[in-house]
Amino acid sequence: MSVTVKKIGILTGGGDCPGLNAVIRGVTKSAISKHGWEVAGIADGFEGLVDPENRVRPLTLWNIRGILHEGGTILGTTNRGNPFNYKTIVKGKEKEIDVSKVAIKNVQELGLDCVVIIGGDGTLSIALEFYKRGINVIGIPKTIDNDIQATDYTFGFQTAVVTATEALDKLHSTAESHHRVMVIEVMGRYAGWIAAESGVAGGADVILIPEIPYDIKKVVAKIKKRSSGGSKFSLVVVAEGAMPLEGDITVLEGSSTGFGIERLGGVGHKVAHQITEQTGMESRVTILGHVQRGGTPCPFDRILSTKFGTAASDLIAKQRFGEMVCLHNNKISSIPITDAVNSLKLVKPDGDLVRTAEAVGISFGR
Ligand code: F6P
Repeated sequence: MSVTVKKIGILTGGGDCPGLNAVIRGVTKSAISKHGWEVAGIADGFEGLVDPENRVRPLTLWNIRGILHEGGTILGTTNRGNPFNYKTIVKGKEKEIDVSKVAIKNVQELGLDCVVIIGGDGTLSIALEFYKRGINVIGIPKTIDNDIQATDYTFGFQTAVVTATEALDKLHSTAESHHRVMVIEVMGRYAGWIAAESGVAGGADVILIPEIPYDIKKVVAKIKKRSSGGSKFSLVVVAEGAMPLEGDITVLEGSSTGFGIERLGGVGHKVAHQITEQTGMESRVTILGHVQRGGTPCPFDRILSTKFGTAASDLIAKQRFGEMVCLHNNKISSIPITDAVNSLKLVKPDGDLVRTAEAVGISFGR
């Protein structure tokens, strides 16, 4: 059914990443200046739709000024607060209840003709559920992990790669000075994109990613070979989701969020320990952590975010609800959200990136 759009909402869900503010700016500027709509900012992801009195405010050309280069999201975000499985306390006990009908009623009462939902796989899956229940939505993919199948790149990823590469550059000199093995653990969840790209850009000697289970003997052999060849130091990039040939992914101890999301972390220490044990070389571990999610977006991410934001407004104008903007063969395009979720984009073990890395002598422990 065709709608006359007058007012739209924007929310950011899931983990933050550099470029979210640039997207909010892109949607808001084009919605107001190009299409003549009002814009409402919904704070703290879907929480804002459950509690609109305290969490919804107008976005104007005035109050979105100066945010293009800012990290984080002016709207706030959360990776909890799924209205279909909403955690709450009932009679002193934690319970999950479905408050989606409340959220839907609030969208209608706020007069939102469409909600632009900016998020990763989890957030976009929730967006899809709202769409199936009659709410007009447009999705915008974000994550530093770059693991959304339907788009060549998500914004935030390139900035994370820059951060990890800069860290590698810094570790390089101290590794060389002290003749140490420096292990750096980077984010990416079940995908090795950040590790693989920063590893190639930062001249790593070993890159371990979830897509290629590693054999520690091969890692050790590579480091020993370098050492006997005169390079008494090595740089090892380990994706947090990396796993040994015979073993499992490393989940951060005692880290259950209670929201069904496992938190990864710790594999860097395991790898470093085994390297020291089997080579006799001193090793140190750097866990880069949330530094990768913060800070100012790099130019690529600012441009992609602006393109995604303005393209989302254009999709609304064309009434293409239920779709998600994406980058396909370097062109801005869109696909139904239903085709975009639940399918991770992983590093291909025999793709260009890995083959290039191996051609310059980087070991993936295989
Ligand atoms: O999905 C983005 C991401 O940064 C992952 O790379 C990482 O595993 C996870 O989020 C960390 O989540 P949290 O901020 O909840 O610790």
